[in-house]
Amino acid sequence: MKPNFQQRDIIAINDFSKEEVLHILDITDKIKQKKQPDLLRGHILANCFFEPSTRTRLSFESAMQRMGGSVIGFSDSQTTSVKKGESLSDTMKMIEHYADIIVIRHPLEGAAQQAANCSSIPVINAGDGTNQHPTQTLLDLFTINECQNKLEGLNIAMIGDLKYGRTVHSLAQASSFFNHRLYFISPPHLEMPKEICDELRNKRIKFSFHKEIDEIIEKIDILYVTRLQTERFPHHMEYEEVKSNFILKSSQLAKARPNLKILHPLPRVNEIQQDVDHTPFAHFFQQAQNGLFVRQALLGLILGKL
Ligand code: CP
Repeated sequence: MKPNFQQRDIIAINDFSKEEVLHILDITDKIKQKKQPDLLRGHILANCFFEPSTRTRLSFESAMQRMGGSVIGFSDSQTTSVKKGESLSDTMKMIEHYADIIVIRHPLEGAAQQAANCSSIPVINAGDGTNQHPTQTLLDLFTINECQNKLEGLNIAMIGDLKYGRTVHSLAQASSFFNHRLYFISPPHLEMPKEICDELRNKRIKFSFHKEIDEIIEKIDILYVTRLQTERFPHHMEYEEVKSNFILKSSQLAKARPNLKILHPLPRVNEIQQDVDHTPFAHFFQQAQNGLFVRQALLGLILGKL
């Protein structure tokens, strides 16, 4: 039996089974091959962004419009009645009358779940604080499968701010479905959180911690780079000293496997030098493009049209 996503909330990657993830990737592949311009005609998406975004907000918007639907919403909550003191739950209770599905990004961990709890229409988490970014993980997995021709048993390194970067939390958790071997490279105090490491240990996923890319570059199939999430740092935190150790240069790729691909959820600040873009390893713009197809698949599935 096919997994059923109709009217479901998408809050965390752990909400899915492996079978469900593979089904979404399969539908994404079909949508990438064949456009569905009228699939969501008459449906309305509410894009509620309480935090900045380029890719996630605009790709959801594009996904809905490319399938014939329409979009309402805001990209700056200060232009809404939140500025007057309206609560998240009251805001969601209003929006459920105006739209068929809500996409929410919020700086607080748990806000997407809170929105889902008080809304009668489906809610998709587009990033809640440092917690989760499940649709990013689905597009990451789709891209990994596409560029490696498989998902199982890959060696994946994650480098950068692994503490505050929600994309690496969701991706590390998804790795347990596919028996990935994980390598974590981060500045001191920005390591992968203990609870995620404990979860990986319980699921028997192998991982190790490293100081530099050079230690593992010959072993990996995917290098997943993230920026330092300075907007989430405590004010006293010093990062200027360590920042330069986490800037990827093309010279560091001399010993890379030919199949290595470099991914990044973007935005890039300065953690990948521009000269890397011209190597065959750079794959982050293709990755971002896949966000459109994954989000089309999710909207179609949740609204019961696929
Ligand atoms: N990857 C990602 O979430 O990008 P935005 O912050 O631009 O949406």
